Amino acid sequence: MRENRGLIVTLTVNPALDVSTSTERIVSNEKLRCGLTRLDPGGGGMNVARVISRLGGHAHAIYLAGGSTGDAYEKLVTDEELEAERVPIAGVTRESFTVDEISTAGQYRFVLQGPTVTEPEWQKSLALLEASISPGGYVVASGSLAPGIPDDFYARVARLARNKGARCVVDASGAALAAALAEGVYMVKPSRHEMDELVGTAPGGRGNQIQAASELIERGAAELVALTLGDEGAILISAAGVKRLPVPQVPVISTVGAGDSFLAGFVLRLAQGCSQHAAFCTAVAAGTATSMNPATLLCTKSDVERLEKELARISH
Ligand SMILES: Nc1ncnc2c1ncn2[C@@H]1O[C@H](COP(=O)(O)OP(=O)(O)OP(=O)(O)O)[C@@H](O)[C@H]1O
Ligand SMILES: [Mg+2]
Repeated sequence: MRENRGLIVTLTVNPALDVSTSTERIVSNEKLRCGLTRLDPGGGGMNVARVISRLGGHAHAIYLAGGSTGDAYEKLVTDEELEAERVPIAGVTRESFTVDEISTAGQYRFVLQGPTVTEPEWQKSLALLEASISPGGYVVASGSLAPGIPDDFYARVARLARNKGARCVVDASGAALAAALAEGVYMVKPSRHEMDELVGTAPGGRGNQIQAASELIERGAAELVALTLGDEGAILISAAGVKRLPVPQVPVISTVGAGDSFLAGFVLRLAQGCSQHAAFCTAVAAGTATSMNPATLLCTKSDVERLEKELARISH
């Protein structure tokens, strides 16, 4: 594989310190004694950088963080030996709380609101991003926008990337995704719900979703649309046509971070010079490999490599 140093930059403007634990049974009005606590530096762009690093690649992760949770977040990022750049903010980085209920194998996810980000703070992240982008490289803007960040933020990222000769990949929803598409990006990765919300298609109407994705490509809003379908795999739509991959049969435990892992696999392989088809196989493999691990744990390299071989065998 070719070295991809300097080629991939990720941006996380609303990260979360992921706190995960387990308890026997969730009941109201009682103390719930929990098992061990695990802390992870979460948020779309950071998860993408973490999976890229785990798969042997390299990404530069820019993130906003503040307060004591922001400091704890920074320490976790440093401990994972990621190449990361923190934009300090006055607000306090949020936490996300995931509890696995042992008796039912159910999972409860509490996603707290992020801190308000000021204009000088988000402008600073754009300036750092501009300085980090390499021509021919990839910018991955992933995750929700924190309060205070304008809806056209990812559209601004897309413009910056284009001006520097890089490809912009956006994983977002609602107004932020719509604005990025209006600006024009290289790739988007809507999940089923995000696609329905974006184009107003009837929930789960697969034909309508594919049609809507094709229209995005025809009007130049994106070159690639990866419509991810959870346990039904994913569909890749481009000017070259429509390709579908199923998920390999695996024991599914927790899908937290599956979409971020999908994106990491896709972008890493493209940056390494692989074909779109190979990148698509790695993406589905990485998303599915993450679903095999509990709580916020992401995929392992060996699972991804095993599943991508399996997918390459069953697809053409
Ligand atoms: N239950 C599952 N079983 C196997 N693989 C899964 C499962 N859920 C997700 N995946 C893998 O992860 C990829 C992305 O999942 P999904 O479509 O749920 O996107 P997401 O971004 O995690 O969703 P959302 O943003 O709506 O929470 C899928 O294409 C698939 O490869
Ligand atoms: Mg997602």
